[in-house]
Amino acid sequence: MSKRMWGGRFKGRLDPRIDALNRSFPFDRRLYDEDVTASVAWARALRHEGILDWQELQAVVMGLERVRQEFAQGRFREKPTDEDIHTAVERRLVELVGSAGEKLHTGRSRNDQVATDLCLWLRRACDEVSVALKGLAQSLLHAAKRAGTIAIPAYTHLQRAQPVLAAHHLLAYVTMLARDRERFADARRRCGVLPLGSGAAVGTGFRVDRKRLAWELGLKEVSGNSLDAVGSRDGAIEFLAASALLAVHLSRLGEEIVLWSSAEFGFVRLSDEVATGSSLLPQKKNPDGAELARGKAGRVIGHLAALLTTMKGLPLAYNKDLQEDKEAVFDAFDTVRAVSAALSATVDGISFDKARCAAALEGFHLLAIELADYLARKGMPFRRAHEVVGRLVAKAEAKGIDVSALPLEDLRAEAEEFGPDVRRVLAVPAALKAKGAIGGTAPAQVRRSLAAWTRRVASW
Ligand code: ARG
Repeated sequence: MSKRMWGGRFKGRLDPRIDALNRSFPFDRRLYDEDVTASVAWARALRHEGILDWQELQAVVMGLERVRQEFAQGRFREKPTDEDIHTAVERRLVELVGSAGEKLHTGRSRNDQVATDLCLWLRRACDEVSVALKGLAQSLLHAAKRAGTIAIPAYTHLQRAQPVLAAHHLLAYVTMLARDRERFADARRRCGVLPLGSGAAVGTGFRVDRKRLAWELGLKEVSGNSLDAVGSRDGAIEFLAASALLAVHLSRLGEEIVLWSSAEFGFVRLSDEVATGSSLLPQKKNPDGAELARGKAGRVIGHLAALLTTMKGLPLAYNKDLQEDKEAVFDAFDTVRAVSAALSATVDGISFDKARCAAALEGFHLLAIELADYLARKGMPFRRAHEVVGRLVAKAEAKGIDVSALPLEDLRAEAEEFGPDVRRVLAVPAALKAKGAIGGTAPAQVRRSLAAWTRRVASW
């Protein structure tokens, strides 16, 4: 049976109950690529220091690449003493290359090692989330294009408020995703500071060229304080924060697709590929993908709350509590990627029901504000115009009709500013067109915005 890496001072075997809790290899094996990459760079640094000679470096690098391959091809044979990915890689390396491998851990601690692996992993994760965001944004842009000039009600308080282009609504999500993307880019940038060379806590005992080490690992800077470098998990927390907010955005899109595809709204139909059936009710067609997009936000937010709680009040520098970071970031990453992809498919699978959308714009006084804006343009103070139109709405309700259907006499009875030209503002296309300031739902604005986003997202 192979020994533990830290076996020297210990007599008995580790109690299996401690081992079961302590062992992180089952989940941190996912860091094998980063662990090997960082170890290769460290080996080179040791060569510069004269700790490894040229032959030893060759042996270590070759051995490490073989270990990488074994993991990549699913051939790595784990041993019960492989406590975590770092000890597993080193154990195997020594099996492969002997004493040169035993020199690799000179001047290094698993504390600066894991911080380094994690920062390399987080940078890659940020890139991969960005790719997923691009896919979803493109699905939204295509859906916006397909929606053309179809209008739906915009809701406030989930009450129908005003007509809005469906495309404008979809572009709102593209706007949110663009901010998400910036947050991941920002998190990635801050993960560009190298912890390796910080040792266990106070710095490595060898004068390694850390700047060169950083450069080799594609990082821009080296950490300036060893205690902070091994004791912080800000990168993981920022990644989780960006993921949690993204998950919240995805949950809102999911919820709207659930609502829109319901019989009550009926704004969109879901293609069969993105809907699921019921095991009991033969007629059911359920939006499970969209529902899970809504539901999965909980666990991602949970991971952020969990890691913040783990870090709170923790003394410097490394504490084993920090091992809790991994499952949180891995699961958050898997979740936001899976949800983004599923939502992308769902958005590809929606088509707007023109008739149902048009019907939803009728009968709820959605153009009342157009009457008030009309009066304001004629010089009436808006507060009074609001009051006037409020009374008109009451009058229309009493008659059981929409305010836009009131005859001109009724309008003039409340305000003589109303003229026959008022009819022109009382139509959905006119109401849409009137929202022509930047950021509004006027078709010309939306067209411009769609074109601009299409160009911008293509370059993501
Ligand atoms: N598995 C540990 C983690 O993920 C690696 C660092 C352990 N360091 C130590 N001195 N035990 O945090």
